[in-house]
Amino acid sequence: MRKHRLFLSPPCVGPDERACVAEAFDSNYIAPCGPQVDAFERAMAERTGISHTLALSSATAALHLLYRELGAGPDGAVVAPTLTFVASVAPAVQMGAEAILVDSNEATWTLDPELTDDALQTLAREGRRVAAVVAVDLYGQCCDYDALEAVCARYGVPLIVDAAEALGATYRGRAAGSAGVAAVYSFNGNKIITTSGGGLLASADAALVARARHLSQQAREDEAWYEHRMLGYNYRMSNLVAAVGVGQLRHLDDIVAKRRQIFEWYRERLADLPQIRFMPEAAYGAASRWLTVVCFDGDWASDRSGRPGETSQRIRLALESENIEARPVWKPMHLQPVFRGAHTFGGGVAERLFSCGLCLPSGTAMTGSDCDEVCAVIRRELG
Ligand SMILES: Cc1ncc(COP(=O)(O)O)c(C=O)c1O
Repeated sequence: MRKHRLFLSPPCVGPDERACVAEAFDSNYIAPCGPQVDAFERAMAERTGISHTLALSSATAALHLLYRELGAGPDGAVVAPTLTFVASVAPAVQMGAEAILVDSNEATWTLDPELTDDALQTLAREGRRVAAVVAVDLYGQCCDYDALEAVCARYGVPLIVDAAEALGATYRGRAAGSAGVAAVYSFNGNKIITTSGGGLLASADAALVARARHLSQQAREDEAWYEHRMLGYNYRMSNLVAAVGVGQLRHLDDIVAKRRQIFEWYRERLADLPQIRFMPEAAYGAASRWLTVVCFDGDWASDRSGRPGETSQRIRLALESENIEARPVWKPMHLQPVFRGAHTFGGGVAERLFSCGLCLPSGTAMTGSDCDEVCAVIRRELG
């Protein structure tokens, strides 16, 4: 058993981040705003090619502000992939919106454009208003933005991108998130870059970002005294936290290159095992490979039991007993007790990926011999 735990995707920071934090510290711009927040917003705008950015306390906060902007609520449903993390839809549902869940595409594991069309057609026929379609760039792979934009345009529904997991990925040469009306990114501790915790809203629409900025700081009016014409939230990113992000962002290209290398290490080491399939990479882009995700064939519990399949569970537990962290693929939203009975289009692809899939350790600091250890356990279990 390993002495030091091999985590799924731990933070990886170094002297650059330390220097940026020290600079913030020494300037006494600790919180709430400050030059590092401005610098981080500018650097993210440059990196994504999306002109207006707003650094926030989390991607969940960014999604909340966006859903509010788009009028999600009792008369504004949200169409979302069923295969995602709950935060993609939770803020909209908390505002009273119905989540309409759509299956993944087999070839990319991301939101299926044809099924999205079916969903929007059905909702249009029913005379329902749809506040947004949210495209989630799963595990660092962009959705097919062009196809989803065309579908959304047909029904006059705004598209937003949840690129929480995909910073550094590309779609036809553009940055992850550069589609629709706005995108969100996460800098949570396990993401491709981290600020310890944080998120960002990005949009080409300056007015949208300005409104979100206003709401994110308690909707305080520009007066010397505390003047409020509406109620807002305390969602801003602190300056100290932004300093970590400034340092991390400088290394994004190297981090993505390393994550892609880790993926290749696994592929090379497990190539001869016919039971294993790797998450495919769509021809239209380059995934960031935030996590290396594999599927163990023939392990589909089609009974909608709500539990991962036997093989992926067994391998996860075997890894755990060696002090190695692995995680099941996201459990589809339509199988979650909280979404029981949700209107769902398809679902079989997401169910199979949940049942057969496993996310393997993919941290930036991982070594080839760490990868050897993981692969040895997988081989032993499949043996
Ligand atoms: C797809 C997706 N959306 C949203 C979030 C929420 O991000 P945050 O933790 O920054 O709120 C995450 C991960 O945490 C995620 O994976």
